[in-house]
Amino acid sequence: MAEQRLASPSPVPELHGPVPGPRARAVLEKDRRAVSPSYTRSYPLVARRGRGLVLEDEDGNRFLDFTAGIAVTSTGHCHPRVVEAIQRQAAELIHMSGTDFYYAVQADLAERLARIAPGRGAKRVFLTNSGTEAVEAAFKLARWRTRRPRALAFIGAFHGRTMGALSLTNSKVIQRAGFAPLLSGVTHVPFPNPYRGPEAAWVLDFIRRTVLRRTVPPEEVAAIFVEPVQGEGGYVVPPLEFHQGLRAIADEIGALLVHDEVQSGMGRTGRMFASEHFGVAPDVVCLAKGIASGMPLGACIAREEVMAWPPGAHASTFGGNPVSCAAALATLDLLEAELVENARVVGAHLEGLLRGLARDEPSIGDVRGLGLMLAVELVRPGEGSPPDGARAGRVIDECFRRGLLLLPCGESGIRFCPALVARREDCDRAVEVFAGALAATPE
Ligand SMILES: Cc1ncc(COP(=O)(O)O)c(C=O)c1O
Repeated sequence: MAEQRLASPSPVPELHGPVPGPRARAVLEKDRRAVSPSYTRSYPLVARRGRGLVLEDEDGNRFLDFTAGIAVTSTGHCHPRVVEAIQRQAAELIHMSGTDFYYAVQADLAERLARIAPGRGAKRVFLTNSGTEAVEAAFKLARWRTRRPRALAFIGAFHGRTMGALSLTNSKVIQRAGFAPLLSGVTHVPFPNPYRGPEAAWVLDFIRRTVLRRTVPPEEVAAIFVEPVQGEGGYVVPPLEFHQGLRAIADEIGALLVHDEVQSGMGRTGRMFASEHFGVAPDVVCLAKGIASGMPLGACIAREEVMAWPPGAHASTFGGNPVSCAAALATLDLLEAELVENARVVGAHLEGLLRGLARDEPSIGDVRGLGLMLAVELVRPGEGSPPDGARAGRVIDECFRRGLLLLPCGESGIRFCPALVARREDCDRAVEVFAGALAATPE
């Protein structure tokens, strides 16, 4: 982390004028004319370069980044060790396709991921370019392995946007609108939420007594897909007994338990995998986001006897390309050396700060999360504390105007998911700016 600290010589945020400035506005105009309008930009940040938690825009304004590019740049922007690994690999071999040929860096990474993946026994690793492809691979693997057609997934879940993963996704209706028919055979059930309900015991009972008795024949279920901590759905942390109960249900009905750790994995929660907090090992785990510090890479990892499909059953031209694999190996070195532990320690500090703020601020209904995967939920104080998504959006926008980058999640959540190199002082500063923005944004 020492190099990263040197990277921010003067305090951030440091803005030279109102944002976006003139250079950023020129990019926005070009983007408006040329780029797909389907993206979901929360505010007009035009990124130019980054180091650690510092993100500089086109006009030289320096922001404090508590988004990590949607929980991706786990080692901070452009960590020197990751940059060096990328440059070294790019000078040797950029592509040869792990589908048709062999190269050492893919085998090295697979071996390492298989060794650390949750659960006992030998594992196999299928490398992808993204989270949605990791989920897609898991869905195909579950069907192939069990020869069963159906899946259970959760309301509020986000698993990706390709057709298979989208069929499991149940986050916002705009993500599904206009794309029917999606895959048939996916049944969504409520996800437990300790703040708003339902309770875990009720959900488990509902799956057992209602879903698997009235709607879904248990012997037709290939897999149960679940995020250990629901991500886009609001950083919702279910209680231990929920994940333990799901493990038991999967075993009872002979289905695979798939953990989607695309967002919660790779140290984000202060453990390498969020499932470790719950003492439950899945049959299949999906990873992406933080795995290669921003290079496109994902992984679907399963026990050896599960991932026993034959040549040709599944493959990818680009998945696991050498440069991404090199970045992932450098990222793993940093995560294992200190960053997972840093996420735990600094995450606890940030959570304490947010809880302190919530004590004096009735519009913060809930503070939740694990490690550096934290969110606050904004509500309208009073009867039933309804979520206040409109205000959450305004507060996030005001934070941007003041130089702090945050993202929304769930109905009215604001997530704090900085790179795992974050220091206590970064959190102090972020919460100070956030508190100011909250005070300046009327209900
Ligand atoms: C839990 C989870 N699964 C899957 C995905 C999809 O990943 P990608 O956008 O890389 O396809 C995401 C992305 O936010 C995610 O949070």
